[in-house]
Amino acid sequence: MRPMLAYRHGFHAGNHADVLKHLVLAEILTYLNAKDKGWRCVDTHAGAGGYSLVGVQAGKRREFEQGIGRLYGRHDLPAPLSAYVELVRRFNGGGALRQYPGSPAIAHMLMRPQDQLRLFELHPTDAGILASYLGAEPGVQVRSADGFAALKSVLPPPTRRGVVLIDPPYEIKTDYARALAALRETLARFAEAVVIVWLPQLQLVEAARLPQRLKASADAHAKKGWLHARLTVAEADAHGFGMLGSHVFVANPPHTLHATLAPLLPWLAAALAQFGGARGSVERSRAA
Ligand SMILES: C[S@@+](CC[C@H](N)C(=O)[O-])C[C@H]1O[C@@H](n2cnc3c(N)ncnc32)[C@H](O)[C@@H]1O
Repeated sequence: MRPMLAYRHGFHAGNHADVLKHLVLAEILTYLNAKDKGWRCVDTHAGAGGYSLVGVQAGKRREFEQGIGRLYGRHDLPAPLSAYVELVRRFNGGGALRQYPGSPAIAHMLMRPQDQLRLFELHPTDAGILASYLGAEPGVQVRSADGFAALKSVLPPPTRRGVVLIDPPYEIKTDYARALAALRETLARFAEAVVIVWLPQLQLVEAARLPQRLKASADAHAKKGWLHARLTVAEADAHGFGMLGSHVFVANPPHTLHATLAPLLPWLAAALAQFGGARGSVERSRAA
């Protein structure tokens, strides 16, 4: 039986986790755009593509106020962060912050005629919104399907340049093992792939173990090593619940990514801090 899909990204759009993930995604696609050869971006868990920040879902907990909301009006942003916020401004037509671009919208804004997007989303409502938003765009394919299972159908891309974003909701514990398996499968089919895995910082054994497992897998199979960015902005509640922050793990990162993110993450942690112990850091393997 297929598990019930309770998670809807609209409740979380634009929060600190989206900021970290979309900053890294935008930076990587911008790096790939330095060469003419086309790339393919595969988003295994694409969501709806874009979200209203003035609607019912985002209005429930207003998570975006502690994320993109803290950056949108600032004019002192360090360079790569300002490029990402500029994309969010473009998505808002240059006006006030009323909507937030999901990963498909970020990738779509950065794609060129020679590039391709392959988007998978399992929730029927979000898959429908995504299909009506981007489904008819040149170079874009949207499928309402299990992104983990469909991954092999889109790898490797013909140009052998590409990014795979693995961004499950982790609402079911099997997502942890499936994210690791998806990294392995991607590298087995396409060893040069830049693979981005987002994961939450939670007081949960599966969440705590996954970064180490991703590193071991990339050590064994990624040609250009790995990078691990971590942003902690909040404390757990009295019962140990709550998302403290998130991680972005990248296999085969662009060689410039570590130098770009290293000064940025402490800056971002200070900007998005919800408690005195907020911190941001980035480490990499010797091969990266
Ligand atoms: C964290 S959200 C994705 C956010 C999106 N990547 C972004 O950054 O804007 C995770 C999405 O995965 C969807 N989902 C859950 N399990 C899935 C699966 N096995 N295959 C594809 N989509 C799935 C959920 O419905 C949800 O929309």
